[in-house]
Parts: sequence; structure tokens; C-alpha cells
Amino acid sequence: MPTRTLADVLQSEDKSLRKLVSLLADLSMQIVAEIPRALGTTEGTNIYGDRQTELDVWSNELLTKKLVKSGLVSQVASEEMDEPLEGSHGEYSVVLDPLDGSSNIKTDNLVGTIVGIFHDEKLPAKGRNLLCSLYFLYGPYIQGTLATREGVFLSVAAGKGAGSERFLTSGEPHRLPEKGSVYGIGGLREKWTPQVREFADRLEKRKLKLRYGGSFVGDYNQVLYNGGFFSYPALLDAPNGKYRLQFESNPIGFITEKAGGRASTGMQNVLDLEPTDIAQRVPTYLGNRDLVSEFEDLVKGASQRIVQG
Ligand code: AHG
Ligand code: MN
Ligand code: MN
Repeated sequence: MPTRTLADVLQSEDKSLRKLVSLLADLSMQIVAEIPRALGTTEGTNIYGDRQTELDVWSNELLTKKLVKSGLVSQVASEEMDEPLEGSHGEYSVVLDPLDGSSNIKTDNLVGTIVGIFHDEKLPAKGRNLLCSLYFLYGPYIQGTLATREGVFLSVAAGKGAGSERFLTSGEPHRLPEKGSVYGIGGLREKWTPQVREFADRLEKRKLKLRYGGSFVGDYNQVLYNGGFFSYPALLDAPNGKYRLQFESNPIGFITEKAGGRASTGMQNVLDLEPTDIAQRVPTYLGNRDLVSEFEDLVKGASQRIVQG
């Protein structure tokens, strides 16, 4: 199989998009290089009340400033900022989780960067309108996962080039395996709804193996490779769950759908959710189409029983 790069995969895309993805690939490598220096936490918290690590702040600064300076981006919004930053000109809007799983840094667990790219969309935007989405996963090797309308491309930062040229790929679109073998569900078990509890029991009975490490990109990546189910669900004390629609659920939901899976709020396809607020959270259920649809039936059944009284 000839080795190709992410740049090859994007050949049919506009030059400006190819430049934007290459810039993001380069910036992801700069974030990785910074990790050893920025292991501390800051006094700051973001608008969600999450304690910001040095690397959250540093990565957010790096990504937002370089994106605005590139002239390619008209708007960039991030989990670490209250409001989107406006660029002077540029045809793309970018949504960012600059560092996902940042509570994992001190324990040397997986962390990553999540990016969604829209063309000429005002933020917050509907996931269905994403042009492409990516995540970079900082593990034993650096992985770049890119979803375009053509499909999902897995890549490894092992090339000699810079930017997208650095990321080698088979060039074959990746599909979720037919039969899933792993699952992960966030939040405290005692706060799970009866439907989440029931579904977790079903997955255990079907011998899916639990994979939960506390970073969305790290945990989700196992489902993308092995098939299965991943969720940060609605909780009894947090009915909207934890994930931010713009910065986490939409970009990863787009990847899931392009890999042949389904991304749901439990009631509907997450990509079709009309956004109401840049910072809104949404219950998030992702994975093999049959498993996510089975979970949705559980939730719909329960809500019908409530309506019938
Ligand atoms: P972030 O570091 O960007 O705030 O994301 C953290 C998220 C996600 O990565 C992970 O799945 C989840 O928080 C873990 O939550 P718990 O600590 O409640 O398990
Ligand atoms: Mn995150
Ligand atoms: Mn984050």
C-alpha cells in the first residue's frame, strides 16, 4: 500500500482548506513539544468552571492567534474563551477544544486537540454544516484523524515533511468495524439514568470491554478503531451531560457519521441540533449505528411511558 500523507488526501479540496489543515497539523506538533514545560495548573477557570491548566491556556493562545493571523479564518471559537474571536477576513470558521482531557496531563494520560471547520458559517453553527473535522491525539505516537465529506482518514506523524506532509496515511477511508468490542460511559454510575444503566448492563452481557481513561479523544479513539459505544451521558444532576456541542460533540459526531456510525443526543442526531448558545452542553452518545439506535429506542420508550402516565 503506497504511503500517502494528509496533504494527498486533501488534494481535491480548495487550496485555502489545504493550507488551514496544514497549519493545524503544524500547531498540534507545537502543542506536543510544549507539554513537558507546561505541566502545571493555573489559578484560572474557563466559563464552564473547569480549572485551566497551563497547557489549556497556552494551546488556546497559540491556536487562536495563529488561526486569526493566517488570514484564512473569519471566526474562531474555543472551549477556553467566552466569545468567538473575529478574524479580519477569511472564509472559514473554526471551533476548538484546544486541549481535550487536560486533567490527564499530570497523570501522563492521553490528551488531544479537537477542531471543527465550517465554510462561511456564523458561530455557533449546526454540526451538519461542518466542512471537515479533526482531532490530534497525543499518545505513544501522534495521531491525526481527519474527516472530510469523502470519509475518515487515520494518520501518524511519522513523515519527513511539515504540516500535513508530516502525517502519513494509507489514504483508505476508515470505517467503524461491523461488530463493536469496546465501550465507555462517563460520569458517576450513581448519577446515570435508568436507561444508561440498563444499556451498560446490555453491553457488559454482550462482552464489550470497558475502556474509560477520562479523555474524550483518547477514549473515543478506541471506539473508532474497535467499534462499540462511547458516551458522556445525561446525568441525574446534569441533564445536558458534560460535552460542549460546538467544541466536542459536533466535531467528533461528524467523524463518527463519516465512519459509518451514529452520533446522538439520545433523542436525535446531534449534527441536526439547532445550536442556541456557543457554550451549550449536550448529552452525547456515539458509536456503531445499531448500538446508538438501540439506546435511542430505550430513551424514547421511557419518554413515551412518562407521557402515557
Ligand atoms: P476538557 O479537558 O477539554 O475539559 O475535556 C474533558 C472531558 C473529556 O475529555 C472527558 O471525556 C471528560 O471530560 C471526563 O470527565 P470526567 O472527569 O467526569 O470523567
Ligand atoms: Mn474536551
Ligand atoms: Mn479542553
